[in-house]
Amino acid sequence: MSSIENLFGKNREWSEGVRRRDPSFFETLSKQQTPRYLWIGCSDSRVPANEIVGLLPGELFVHRNVANVVVHTDLNCLSVLQYAVDVLKVEHVIVCGHYGCGGVQASLERRKVGLVDNWLRHVRDVHHKHALTVESVLGPVEKLDTLCELNVIEQAANVCHTTVMQDAWARGQKVEVHAWIYGLRDGLIKDLGLNVSSLEALTPAYGKVLAHYRRLGGTAG
Ligand code: CO
Repeated sequence: MSSIENLFGKNREWSEGVRRRDPSFFETLSKQQTPRYLWIGCSDSRVPANEIVGLLPGELFVHRNVANVVVHTDLNCLSVLQYAVDVLKVEHVIVCGHYGCGGVQASLERRKVGLVDNWLRHVRDVHHKHALTVESVLGPVEKLDTLCELNVIEQAANVCHTTVMQDAWARGQKVEVHAWIYGLRDGLIKDLGLNVSSLEALTPAYGKVLAHYRRLGGTAG
């Protein structure tokens, strides 16, 4: 069993390192946060939000859950979104999934894991909605990759449909929603092409992205 004490040692080293580079870093940051980005990502330990986009503490507001799901009745996620948009005035809301997501894989394989199955039901719904597209993709890895991407697109669309985003856009606030996916094998992020900065822009942008998947799969579904 690894020692929990190690974490305190590592924390002291990190804190000292940061203060060596910028003696007033924590003092300045303790007074306020002004992040320009909200990150909604997967809880997966291999996808550390700040680290993979090279942002420091104070620069990224973060919400993570299993399979980066955005549900209209999830007060936790909605509260994070509302605070980020209304109070912190972030300019970008990024939904970032990742390839090889265990939550998406369990949904794809209809594998039972436990209580979390109820949460992953939302990903099963995405699979169900895009069943023809996913099934038309050959190879288990490619199928999973496709469902991981489609899940991000649907969750980003869900962000756009929240009252938080609709109210922000209605009052003319500049805030854009993005759908990204992270590769565990190369550490690189890919833009999935859904970038929405107004309510009117959602339907055409969503339609364009999905048309791309239908062409890939060669299906009409
Ligand atoms: Co995941």
